[in-house]
Amino acid sequence: MTAETAEIISYQAPDTADDYRRWDDSASWLLGYSFLPLALGLTEGRATRLLDLGCGPGDVTRWLAERSDAVITAVDSSAAMIDFARADAPHPRIDYRHSEDGLPFLADGSMDAAMACFLFTCVDDESTIRDLITEVARVVRPGGRFTILVPNPDHASGAEFEGFRRGDAGAAYRAGELMPVHVQRTDGTWTTITNRYWTRETYRTALTKAGFEGPVRELAPVHADAVDLADPELFAGRAWIKERTAAPFLLITAVK
Ligand SMILES: C[S@@+](CC[C@H](N)C(=O)[O-])C[C@H]1O[C@@H](n2cnc3c(N)ncnc32)[C@H](O)[C@@H]1O
Repeated sequence: MTAETAEIISYQAPDTADDYRRWDDSASWLLGYSFLPLALGLTEGRATRLLDLGCGPGDVTRWLAERSDAVITAVDSSAAMIDFARADAPHPRIDYRHSEDGLPFLADGSMDAAMACFLFTCVDDESTIRDLITEVARVVRPGGRFTILVPNPDHASGAEFEGFRRGDAGAAYRAGELMPVHVQRTDGTWTTITNRYWTRETYRTALTKAGFEGPVRELAPVHADAVDLADPELFAGRAWIKERTAAPFLLITAVK
């Protein structure tokens, strides 16, 4: 596949949405999702109103509902993903909503916090990223947090993380360029999808322009950081070679 002939992955197609559920997301759990409660400041006993934008099949959404008292609105533009989420990851404190155009059903300032996990690398242009973040800024109350979990832009030259490699070896990508991402399924087979490469600056600028202010905190966890946060079996269950020295993901948290 070349960047010229490739198209960015879309999860609108039911087959693609279904395949996503078969990817080995162990690294995402170890060094991404496990850090969300910390980044978002979720605590038990507080009914944080949380938006999950681009919730996909809902497994992360449900995990957060189970380990906090958050009341979650989970939104995705793929009807297939929302169908999977409603069927496979239901929870009394999660409202799954299908929306291809923003968050018209949420009032201004109605959310205490928001998150978007692995959403922006499957968004085609910077103006859409800005529109999405502006819509999140509208619905988050003053003082509320917004955490975005993204692949680490520093490791887009084929670094061999558990279950995935982003970019081609030796390649350097510019913001907005298409890049191949090789992902392993839980059955051991691999597939190659196409994402857009975005930089830290892309995200920081979009957050600032949307009205997020105050401290912007960034976490770039490596294996040792996950010792008290991730599932102990997952932490100890693999070699996690690259993950010991390189952070595969970034969590960028901004405050409204
Ligand atoms: C890579 S998946 C991540 C799913 C989930 N957050 C996770 O971490 O497993 C990206 C999701 O974002 C959704 N998405 C893409 N563009 C969107 C948009 N404009 N509004 C809402 N969801 C969107 C896709 O349909 C897909 O389900």
